[in-house]
Amino acid sequence: GENGYDLWLRYPPVADKMLQATYRRHISAIMINPSDATLNIARQELLNGLSHLLQTRLSATTTLHQDGTVVAGTPQQSPLLAQADIGGLLKAAGNEGFVIVPKTLQGKRCILISGNTSIGVLYGVFHFLRGLQTAQPVPVLPIVSAPKIQLRMLDHWDNLNRTVERGYAGFSIWNWHTLPTYIDPRYIDYARTNASIGINGTVLTNVNANATVLTPAYLEKVKALADVFRPYGIRVYLTARFSAPMEIGGLATADPLNDSVRGWWKEKIKEIYSYIPDFGGFLVKANSEGQPGPQDYHRTHADGANMLADAIAPYKGIVIWRAFVYSHDNPADRHKQAYDDFVPLDGQFRPNVLLQVKNGAIDFMPREPFHPLFGAMPKTPLMMEFQLTQEYLGQGTSLVFLAPLFKETLESDTYRKGAGSTVAKVIDGSVDQHTLSGMAGVANIGSDIDWCGHPFAQANWYALGRLTWDHTLSSEQIAEEWLRMTFSNDLTFLKSATRLMLESRDIIVQYSNPIGLHHIMGTGHHYGPAPWVDNQQRPEWNPVYYHKADSAGIGFDRTATGSNALAQYQPAVRRQWEDITTCDEKYLLWFHHMPWHFRMKSGRNLWEELCYQYYTGADRVTGMQHTWESLRPFVDPQRFEQVTMLLKIQQQEATWWRNACLLYFRTFSHMPLPAGYAPPD
Ligand code: GCU
Repeated sequence: GENGYDLWLRYPPVADKMLQATYRRHISAIMINPSDATLNIARQELLNGLSHLLQTRLSATTTLHQDGTVVAGTPQQSPLLAQADIGGLLKAAGNEGFVIVPKTLQGKRCILISGNTSIGVLYGVFHFLRGLQTAQPVPVLPIVSAPKIQLRMLDHWDNLNRTVERGYAGFSIWNWHTLPTYIDPRYIDYARTNASIGINGTVLTNVNANATVLTPAYLEKVKALADVFRPYGIRVYLTARFSAPMEIGGLATADPLNDSVRGWWKEKIKEIYSYIPDFGGFLVKANSEGQPGPQDYHRTHADGANMLADAIAPYKGIVIWRAFVYSHDNPADRHKQAYDDFVPLDGQFRPNVLLQVKNGAIDFMPREPFHPLFGAMPKTPLMMEFQLTQEYLGQGTSLVFLAPLFKETLESDTYRKGAGSTVAKVIDGSVDQHTLSGMAGVANIGSDIDWCGHPFAQANWYALGRLTWDHTLSSEQIAEEWLRMTFSNDLTFLKSATRLMLESRDIIVQYSNPIGLHHIMGTGHHYGPAPWVDNQQRPEWNPVYYHKADSAGIGFDRTATGSNALAQYQPAVRRQWEDITTCDEKYLLWFHHMPWHFRMKSGRNLWEELCYQYYTGADRVTGMQHTWESLRPFVDPQRFEQVTMLLKIQQQEATWWRNACLLYFRTFSHMPLPAGYAPPD
């Protein structure tokens, strides 16, 4: 059966026999000198991928003697490539990029896959194989590709006891018990899969982890993983709990300006690098949701980050400091806190510090306007944090393709330096000329046989990787690539399945958080609707704090008459959203408290529109079920049934959201459901 373990690296025989014959004519031998571990992996991948796709035995040669030879390597280790006159192209490929060039060498037609580094070659090999997996023509023109973002990362929220915070795909794939001696083959497949989409960093531990992973017994295990990942171009990072000097160091304080604290971290970092010479650095959650941090000692986030940055700088390590903070008492609007805490610190961070900002100011909601920090900290490299695990998007049961969510944020215009200063250009460093840049996804990976629990959740891992490499790719291209590699190149299949994926995120917004509603999910577990909850100790944990429904209307006033969070955006953005005639209705209740009778663009009043959105969203899940049913002929029975059952759960959830929210909000609107809608059961 098809259990999904191979993800998008399945390499089934090319289904179109004519195409397969063409491929065979152009690709008959490979020539690659495996002079290091990475190039050896590239060689294995080429041999394995090509022999399965083409269903033929390829000769692996050391001399060029036939047409159709794929020559892979770097000019430094391949004399043939050194003489191939591709220096100009390679220049544009940079440190990690690659070139793929059709070229006649010594009278033989060849395909050259090259890079300035071995990892560039491996990325090129995966790109080349992707072309064949997705039924593209053999390249006739040179391809040059280089990543737009430097740090392309997965953040695991994995605990040492193997539970995964907000994980819905089983337990952690890191088996701390059997490490370092037992190397689960899954670690290798993890690294290989990430390399196939350009991921080059992984944070192994939860942002809420204690300091245990920094003790020698665990560092030995971390080293074992780092050794597996290294040839795949992946560096290991760890979360650093700010109070570690007290927890495992026996100090009485973790004050970042205290000399013994600074000394402790210096020693600890030296120790880490003795195990892992290319250790990437730390990810830090401080003074957020009860975590310790520099503010405990009346120091700033910059004091805390810089202390670690100074200690790790001699090893070229970096500090990724998170901007997801809220810990003050009774904030008027949680939306504003990160900006208030961090903007005054712009310019104070060391050059090896990145600030990692979630895409929106609240918390990975199904739809959020972009985080105001992206338009407000020119002197600090800002790193994007997206969430792959679907904490607020149906968790493990819902088919939601997240590329449209990612793209919506990336393409938003911050107006930092006038029109065109998109979030993507802020984080890739081009708006403010930063050399460090990064994008991370909170991983949705676990011990489930298919890694992500839901077959379609794999697409979100894939999309994150592809967008970290090239944020200009469209959601449609990413969906189609993934579908072709994961399921089928059949055009009838692709047409419906691509649409199914592209619409899926809008649908979940409609039936759970329409018109800018947010944070109305069940408290604690965050699963399903609970807009009525008003009993949490912290005001900003209560859904009622966010929707503010009353007899006059619904929504959070973030204009000057309310919390004024809008003042944190550049004037062009603020003006657009504060004016209800120009505010996109998808953000209306995010920024405004609107009367129930307000006339929407559709002609419906707000209450009717809310009903319309909830009903339409839930109905569209039924539509997704029908679409999927029509795809039965194209999908293996195992994955087909799996998705069918999961869609059934999603349908139940959509109905639950619709009914719960409308029945509750109706107690404020005092209006009936519009004619034509079945009353909620
Ligand atoms: C959310 C999530 C927490 C997580 C936090 C974070 O609030 O529910 O589990 O720790 O984000 O990103 O730090």
